[in-house]
Amino acid sequence: MDPNSSGLARRLAEAGQSHLLQFWPELSPAERADLALDLQGMDFLEINGFFKKATEMSNSSKHEKMDARMEPVPCEVQGSVTRNRSSLKAWELTGLECISQNKVAVLLLAGGQGTRLGVSYPKGMYDVGLPSHKTLFQIQAERILKLQQLSEQRHHIKCCIPWYIMTSGRTMEATEKFFTQHNFFGLDKNNIVLFQQGMLPAMDYDGKIIMESKGKLSMAPDGNGGLYRALGSQGILKDMERRGIGFIHVYCVDNILVKVADPAFIGFCVQKEADCGAKVVEKTNPTEAVGVVCQVDGHYQVVEYSEITLETAQKRSPDGRLMFNAGNVANHFFSFSFLRDIVQTFEPKLQHHVAQKKIPHVNAKGQMIQPDKPNGIKMEKFVFDIFQFAKTFAVYEVLREDEFSPLKNADSQEGKDTPTTARHALMSLHRLWVLNAGGHFIDENGRRIPAIPRDGAAGSVSDDGNRNLKDGTDMPIRCEISPLVSYGGEGLEELVKEREFCATLMIDKRGIHQLVKNGI
Ligand code: UTP
Repeated sequence: MDPNSSGLARRLAEAGQSHLLQFWPELSPAERADLALDLQGMDFLEINGFFKKATEMSNSSKHEKMDARMEPVPCEVQGSVTRNRSSLKAWELTGLECISQNKVAVLLLAGGQGTRLGVSYPKGMYDVGLPSHKTLFQIQAERILKLQQLSEQRHHIKCCIPWYIMTSGRTMEATEKFFTQHNFFGLDKNNIVLFQQGMLPAMDYDGKIIMESKGKLSMAPDGNGGLYRALGSQGILKDMERRGIGFIHVYCVDNILVKVADPAFIGFCVQKEADCGAKVVEKTNPTEAVGVVCQVDGHYQVVEYSEITLETAQKRSPDGRLMFNAGNVANHFFSFSFLRDIVQTFEPKLQHHVAQKKIPHVNAKGQMIQPDKPNGIKMEKFVFDIFQFAKTFAVYEVLREDEFSPLKNADSQEGKDTPTTARHALMSLHRLWVLNAGGHFIDENGRRIPAIPRDGAAGSVSDDGNRNLKDGTDMPIRCEISPLVSYGGEGLEELVKEREFCATLMIDKRGIHQLVKNGI
């Protein structure tokens, strides 16, 4: 294929991107064919427009803080698992009823590259080292299975929760293969729908597309907000409509504690008649770098820590809590009609955010460069960018230690959100489930490890993300309960009440397994 006769060279010249063909004479016929195919599918003028708008927005937000335009979430749209305990059961029943009517779907955002974790495969395939060695995908699949079962037990009708999984060019193939290899973890494969989000090229600071090698552009997924474009272009919205889905729970792949299709959250949002809902955890430390859900000029938005002054971040309400305390955990509820409006009307209005990155590239001399400081940008939309279009919004506060422990970094980075902190968070929660169901743990000498079961009060998360043990001991209890046995701590009394367990305990469908020493 000749780029001149096909019009490709002209299109590139018009968009100021002719450098993409600079190594054309050196490429093999196969490399030329691949490059031409990639380039032909791209709208360079649109990409230039994205770059222009994204950099303008980024420059203006550098100079303008949001403080004066922000208002906290009003009380009437809020619900809380601790402050509204008496409503929890009713919310849960409403959610389970919606599930039993096949109105609820879950949508997993799994198109990210997981660069900080540093593995070459999709993050959902990661094993954080639990006694069972289950991967994040398997844990989520089993939670869906259990919830279907709980709903069926209550309503005596068979139901299904379709699982939509957004992947990207970087994760699609491996994800598909993994699910097939594992027989879809016991779920019906017809109810698992994989689809791909779009990709965008990385750009240098002058708006030139960066080349990863002489015949290949540097491409990256267009952010988890790429969801909305993909929902339309990949026929997902139509699939949801065909199945009669009314409510969608959207979540991220990396949160090991995620309550997939959480009936209480869904029930709360349905009772509030919300278009759009956000699960949040309380931000307690003013300098914690977490985005907060709030209103800006009367519209809901997530405001990043860097967008406000310390003074505003430190403001407190009369009850002593931070005024802007609704920490976003990327765990959302959408009504189908809201999602349809977004895809059909509002999506084109969303602008890309700029992420400065170190982007390996080939320079004009054809040399490979591994930069040691950021040399360009990736353009990304965020899943919460659509909050601004919601007419009825709901905010649901949960406990961090029950529901949020994301896997972002490798253990070698020794920081927050590592495989170790994720593993500890899950085992710590499951240990509390056993205690709350009346079970006891004993040490190597057969002595009971003193325990103060949590009763709805917030536990604490230490700086490194590990749970502070509430029983006054730092003995590591390794406890894992299969989601197939319990979704959220329910149904354990008959298994554990008044029983004593060694410090390594695993409960699954086959029974109770324990060992005195670590390692089951
Ligand atoms: P992160 O922003 O943490 O990105 O994604 P990441 O890819 O997991 O990790 P880093 O930043 O490269 O280290 C939050 C969630 O959004 C999804 C991720 O898969 C994760 O569930 N995501 C992110 C997408 O689905 N698409 C994207 O383009 C980016």
